[in-house]
Amino acid sequence: MSTGNLKIGGVCLSPRRGSSEILLELFLDEIRAAGISAVPPLLIREHSFLPCNECEICYDGSDCPLPDDANVHLNSLRQMDGIIIATPVFFYSVPGGAKCFIDRAQQFWVRRQLLGQNEERGLAALISVASSGGEKLFEDVRLVSKYFLDALGYRLTDVLSFRGVDNPGDITDDMRNSVRQFARRFAVKIKERGKSEKD
Ligand SMILES: Cc1cc2nc3c(=O)[nH]c(=O)nc-3n(C[C@H](O)[C@H](O)[C@H](O)COP(=O)(O)O)c2cc1C
Repeated sequence: MSTGNLKIGGVCLSPRRGSSEILLELFLDEIRAAGISAVPPLLIREHSFLPCNECEICYDGSDCPLPDDANVHLNSLRQMDGIIIATPVFFYSVPGGAKCFIDRAQQFWVRRQLLGQNEERGLAALISVASSGGEKLFEDVRLVSKYFLDALGYRLTDVLSFRGVDNPGDITDDMRNSVRQFARRFAVKIKERGKSEKD
Protein backbone atom coordinates (compact mmCIF):
# COMPACT_ATOMS: atom_id res chain seq x y z
CA MET A 1 0.00 0.00 0.00
CA SER A 2 1.36 3.42 -0.89
CA THR A 3 -0.01 6.78 0.25
CA GLY A 4 0.75 9.36 -2.44
CA ASN A 5 4.15 10.89 -2.02
CA LEU A 6 4.08 11.33 1.75
CA LYS A 7 7.55 11.19 3.26
CA ILE A 8 8.88 10.95 6.80
CA GLY A 9 12.43 11.78 7.82
CA GLY A 10 14.19 10.79 11.01
CA VAL A 11 17.11 11.95 13.12
CA CYS A 12 18.80 9.99 15.86
CA LEU A 13 20.70 12.21 18.28
CA SER A 14 22.64 9.46 20.07
CA PRO A 15 26.44 9.27 19.70
CA ARG A 16 26.20 5.45 19.49
CA ARG A 17 24.07 2.76 17.92
CA GLY A 18 21.96 2.40 21.05
CA SER A 19 18.39 2.23 22.27
CA SER A 20 17.12 5.40 20.63
CA GLU A 21 18.37 4.25 17.22
CA ILE A 22 16.73 0.84 17.64
CA LEU A 23 13.42 2.46 18.61
CA LEU A 24 13.72 4.89 15.71
CA GLU A 25 14.11 1.97 13.27
CA LEU A 26 11.06 0.29 14.77
CA PHE A 27 9.09 3.53 14.36
CA LEU A 28 10.17 3.91 10.72
CA ASP A 29 9.35 0.26 9.92
CA GLU A 30 5.82 0.86 11.18
CA ILE A 31 5.55 4.07 9.15
CA ARG A 32 6.53 2.13 6.01
CA ALA A 33 3.98 -0.58 6.89
CA ALA A 34 1.37 2.20 6.96
CA GLY A 35 2.26 3.06 3.36
CA ILE A 36 4.31 6.19 3.97
CA SER A 37 7.87 6.52 2.66
CA ALA A 38 10.51 6.74 5.35
CA VAL A 39 13.85 8.02 4.13
CA PRO A 40 17.01 6.64 5.78
CA PRO A 41 17.42 8.58 9.03
CA LEU A 42 20.22 11.01 9.77
CA LEU A 43 22.44 9.44 12.41
CA ILE A 44 24.28 12.16 14.28
CA ARG A 45 26.89 9.58 15.38
CA GLU A 46 28.11 9.37 11.78
CA HIS A 47 28.87 13.09 11.64
CA SER A 48 30.86 15.76 13.40
CA PHE A 49 29.00 19.02 12.98
CA LEU A 50 30.69 22.28 13.84
CA PRO A 51 29.08 24.40 16.55
CA CYS A 52 27.37 27.68 15.62
CA ASN A 53 29.91 30.46 16.20
CA GLU A 54 27.28 33.21 16.20
CA CYS A 55 28.87 35.03 13.25
CA GLU A 56 25.36 36.25 12.32
CA ILE A 57 26.08 35.92 8.59
CA CYS A 58 22.76 34.07 8.29
CA TYR A 59 20.88 37.06 9.73
CA ASP A 60 20.27 38.50 6.26
CA GLY A 61 18.92 35.15 4.99
CA SER A 62 22.29 33.81 3.81
CA ASP A 63 23.16 30.15 4.26
CA CYS A 64 25.33 29.20 7.23
CA PRO A 65 28.93 29.48 5.93
CA LEU A 66 30.48 26.85 8.22
CA PRO A 67 32.36 24.24 6.16
CA ASP A 68 30.56 20.95 6.84
CA ASP A 69 27.44 19.21 5.53
CA ALA A 70 24.97 20.44 8.18
CA ASN A 71 23.16 22.61 5.62
CA VAL A 72 22.66 19.62 3.31
CA HIS A 73 21.08 17.58 6.10
CA LEU A 74 19.00 20.44 7.47
CA ASN A 75 17.66 21.16 3.99
CA SER A 76 16.83 17.48 3.44
CA LEU A 77 14.89 17.45 6.69
CA ARG A 78 12.89 20.42 5.43
CA GLN A 79 11.51 18.39 2.49
CA MET A 80 9.40 15.99 4.61
CA ASP A 81 5.74 15.70 5.57
CA GLY A 82 6.79 14.53 9.02
CA ILE A 83 9.89 14.22 11.17
CA ILE A 84 10.75 11.82 13.96
CA ILE A 85 13.53 12.61 16.42
CA ALA A 86 14.89 9.87 18.67
CA THR A 87 17.28 10.79 21.45
CA PRO A 88 18.74 9.76 24.77
CA VAL A 89 18.75 12.19 27.69
CA PHE A 90 22.25 13.41 28.54
CA PHE A 91 22.41 15.56 31.67
CA TYR A 92 18.71 16.35 31.23
CA SER A 93 19.23 17.51 27.65
CA VAL A 94 20.24 16.27 24.19
CA PRO A 95 23.79 14.92 23.56
CA GLY A 96 26.38 17.62 22.84
CA GLY A 97 27.21 16.58 19.26
CA ALA A 98 23.52 16.71 18.40
CA LYS A 99 23.17 20.15 19.97
CA CYS A 100 25.81 21.43 17.52
CA PHE A 101 23.61 20.24 14.65
CA ILE A 102 20.49 21.72 16.23
CA ASP A 103 22.10 25.12 16.73
CA ARG A 104 22.95 25.23 13.05
CA ALA A 105 19.20 25.53 12.39
CA GLN A 106 19.48 29.15 13.55
CA GLN A 107 19.62 30.16 9.86
CA PHE A 108 16.06 28.84 9.46
CA TRP A 109 14.92 30.42 12.73
CA VAL A 110 16.13 33.76 11.29
CA ARG A 111 14.16 33.22 8.09
CA ARG A 112 10.97 32.38 9.99
CA GLN A 113 11.13 34.77 12.90
CA LEU A 114 13.04 37.77 11.53
CA LEU A 115 12.48 37.65 7.77
CA GLY A 116 8.85 36.47 7.80
CA GLN A 117 9.37 33.31 5.73
CA ASN A 118 6.85 31.28 7.69
CA GLU A 119 6.47 28.02 5.81
CA GLU A 120 4.57 25.23 7.59
CA ARG A 121 6.05 21.93 6.50
CA GLY A 122 4.44 19.25 8.64
CA LEU A 123 4.18 17.44 11.94
CA ALA A 124 6.83 15.93 14.15
CA ALA A 125 7.23 13.23 16.78
CA LEU A 126 9.80 12.66 19.50
CA ILE A 127 10.98 9.49 21.24
CA SER A 128 13.37 9.85 24.17
CA VAL A 129 15.02 7.35 26.48
CA ALA A 130 16.82 7.79 29.79
CA SER A 131 17.99 5.67 32.66
CA SER A 132 16.38 7.33 35.66
CA GLY A 133 16.01 10.92 36.80
CA GLY A 134 13.32 13.13 38.29
CA GLU A 135 9.96 14.47 37.26
CA LYS A 136 11.36 16.92 34.69
CA LEU A 137 13.70 14.37 33.08
CA PHE A 138 12.34 14.76 29.55
CA GLU A 139 11.37 18.43 29.67
CA ASP A 140 14.53 19.93 28.21
CA VAL A 141 14.73 17.35 25.42
CA ARG A 142 11.11 18.14 24.53
CA LEU A 143 11.68 21.90 24.46
CA VAL A 144 14.95 21.72 22.52
CA SER A 145 13.28 19.41 19.98
CA LYS A 146 10.12 21.53 19.79
CA TYR A 147 11.99 24.73 18.93
CA PHE A 148 14.48 23.04 16.60
CA LEU A 149 11.55 21.52 14.72
CA ASP A 150 9.72 24.84 14.75
CA ALA A 151 12.71 26.51 13.08
CA LEU A 152 12.52 23.87 10.34
CA GLY A 153 8.75 24.39 9.96
CA TYR A 154 7.39 21.38 11.87
CA ARG A 155 4.98 21.24 14.80
CA LEU A 156 5.88 18.75 17.52
CA THR A 157 2.61 16.91 18.15
CA ASP A 158 3.56 13.47 19.49
CA VAL A 159 5.93 12.65 22.33
CA LEU A 160 6.90 9.29 23.81
CA SER A 161 9.45 8.82 26.60
CA PHE A 162 10.88 5.77 28.35
CA ARG A 163 12.63 5.65 31.70
CA GLY A 164 14.72 2.71 32.90
CA VAL A 165 16.59 2.36 29.61
CA ASP A 166 20.36 2.41 29.95
CA ASN A 167 21.19 -0.10 27.21
CA PRO A 168 19.30 -1.76 24.33
CA GLY A 169 18.83 -4.85 26.53
CA ASP A 170 16.52 -2.77 28.74
CA ILE A 171 14.00 -2.30 25.92
CA THR A 172 10.94 -4.38 26.78
CA ASP A 173 8.24 -5.83 24.54
CA ASP A 174 5.81 -3.30 26.03
CA MET A 175 8.10 -0.49 24.93
CA ARG A 176 8.33 -1.92 21.42
CA ASN A 177 4.55 -2.18 21.24
CA SER A 178 4.17 1.40 22.48
CA VAL A 179 6.52 2.60 19.73
CA ARG A 180 4.55 0.67 17.08
CA GLN A 181 1.25 2.16 18.27
CA PHE A 182 2.84 5.60 18.51
CA ALA A 183 4.07 5.30 14.90
CA ARG A 184 0.66 4.13 13.66
CA ARG A 185 -1.07 7.11 15.33
CA PHE A 186 1.49 9.46 13.80
CA ALA A 187 1.00 7.89 10.36
CA VAL A 188 -2.75 8.55 10.61
CA LYS A 189 -2.11 12.21 11.43
CA ILE A 190 0.31 12.58 8.54
CA LYS A 191 -2.19 11.04 6.13
CA GLU A 192 -5.05 13.23 7.41
CA ARG A 193 -2.93 16.32 7.04
CA GLY A 194 -1.91 15.21 3.52
CA LYS A 195 -5.58 14.78 2.58
CA SER A 196 -6.72 18.14 3.97
CA GLU A 197 -3.91 19.89 2.07
CA LYS A 198 -5.31 18.52 -1.20
CA ASP A 199 -8.93 19.66 -0.58
C1 LIG B 1 26.89 11.64 29.14
C2 LIG B 1 25.65 10.94 29.61
C3 LIG B 1 24.71 11.65 30.34
C4 LIG B 1 23.53 11.04 30.76
N1 LIG B 1 22.63 11.78 31.47
C5 LIG B 1 21.50 11.19 31.91
C6 LIG B 1 20.54 11.94 32.67
O1 LIG B 1 20.69 13.13 32.94
N2 LIG B 1 19.44 11.29 33.11
C7 LIG B 1 19.21 9.98 32.82
O2 LIG B 1 18.21 9.43 33.27
N3 LIG B 1 20.06 9.25 32.07
C8 LIG B 1 21.22 9.83 31.61
N4 LIG B 1 22.10 9.12 30.85
C9 LIG B 1 21.75 7.73 30.44
C10 LIG B 1 21.22 7.67 29.00
O3 LIG B 1 20.14 8.53 28.83
C11 LIG B 1 20.75 6.24 28.72
O4 LIG B 1 21.82 5.34 28.87
C12 LIG B 1 20.13 6.08 27.34
O5 LIG B 1 19.42 4.87 27.29
C13 LIG B 1 21.16 6.05 26.21
O6 LIG B 1 20.48 5.97 24.99
P1 LIG B 1 21.18 5.52 23.62
O7 LIG B 1 21.57 4.09 23.81
O8 LIG B 1 20.16 5.70 22.58
O9 LIG B 1 22.35 6.43 23.42
C14 LIG B 1 23.30 9.68 30.45
C15 LIG B 1 24.26 8.95 29.73
C16 LIG B 1 25.42 9.58 29.32
C17 LIG B 1 26.45 8.77 28.54
